Amino acid sequence: MTNVSATGPSPLPFGPQAPWLAPLAGFTDLPFRLLCRENGARVAHTEMISVKGLIYNSQGTWDLLATAPADTPLVVQLFGADPDCFAQPVRWLTERGFHWIDLNAGCPVRKVIKTGAGAALMEDPQRLVRIMQTIGRAAPVQAGVKLRLPADGSTDGLLRLRDTLARAGVSWITLHPRTARQGYGGLAQWSALSRMAESSPVPIVASGDLWNAQAARRCFEQTGVDGIMFARGALHNPRIFKADLATGAEEDPCTDTASIAALVRRHGQLCRRYDPSRSMLLKMRSFIPRYVKGFPGAKQARKGIIACQDWEAFEQYADQLEEALAGQ
Ligand SMILES: Cc1cc2nc3c(=O)[nH]c(=O)nc-3n(C[C@H](O)[C@H](O)[C@H](O)COP(=O)(O)O)c2cc1C
Repeated sequence: MTNVSATGPSPLPFGPQAPWLAPLAGFTDLPFRLLCRENGARVAHTEMISVKGLIYNSQGTWDLLATAPADTPLVVQLFGADPDCFAQPVRWLTERGFHWIDLNAGCPVRKVIKTGAGAALMEDPQRLVRIMQTIGRAAPVQAGVKLRLPADGSTDGLLRLRDTLARAGVSWITLHPRTARQGYGGLAQWSALSRMAESSPVPIVASGDLWNAQAARRCFEQTGVDGIMFARGALHNPRIFKADLATGAEEDPCTDTASIAALVRRHGQLCRRYDPSRSMLLKMRSFIPRYVKGFPGAKQARKGIIACQDWEAFEQYADQLEEALAGQ
């Protein structure tokens, strides 16, 4: 990875001109990250990666770290509960050229929470801080942490946590202002973002209900956060990153059949180049329905991708997609 000085990696870019791609388990793999970067994402996350999976040398876990020269700056998101399990994986990561690390302290999935990881860390701030200290001492990395609202929804506790984490040396904090119990439903409480951003000693990155560029622009204006990351908004439209969030220029809505077909073709090209496996072809079945949603031929397009048995068939599918979407 580039930009690493003797004292550690350079700070990540923030601001309306530097939208980030959020970590999305099952989605933010190398081809999708490159697709988003080609459209303007300035920073991207891996999906969440288990520190225990790295320690136990699980091939599936290491595969999640596949990257390429254009895939930078890349934030590797780790999850785990035991502070002692973080030092060695972080050293391994830096040896392999990964220098930006994020701790997942927001995952609401029961299987993860049960182990004390993800959003369970919000209820055990001392452990959370110890993990961040361990990461910071293990190697010269820039480390961030992704938080949710605590279970009681209180922002006072969150502000104390922010200041403690800043003293522990975190380089940025991402807040997805929903409680773990809320999952991804209900509205994200942007008022909590405003409180976090006010006089924060570290940059605050917003996540939550950023479905399009207008929402991101509003979020900057209303909350005073330093940065934003697109999550489900990017899954629906990877061209969301093209919009100029600073000037207010309209986003590229990607609502014509030709642009969707071009997007699908490009996504397929990146998959074939970086991971032409059958499992990647099957994974395209989970991306395509979002891209084609709302078009007259969406149903046919969803059926079409399921019928693709190899990448040649996928290419033909992409060639015919524009017409199919128009319902012809
Ligand atoms: C399918 C899916 C997978 C996600 N995976 C992760 C993850 O691995 N790590 C993480 O910190 N957040 C994860 N998130 C949360 C998102 O990064 C983001 O914070 C959340 O979706 C709120 O943003 P949005 O309302 O703009 O989508 C995931 C969300 C979704 C929908």
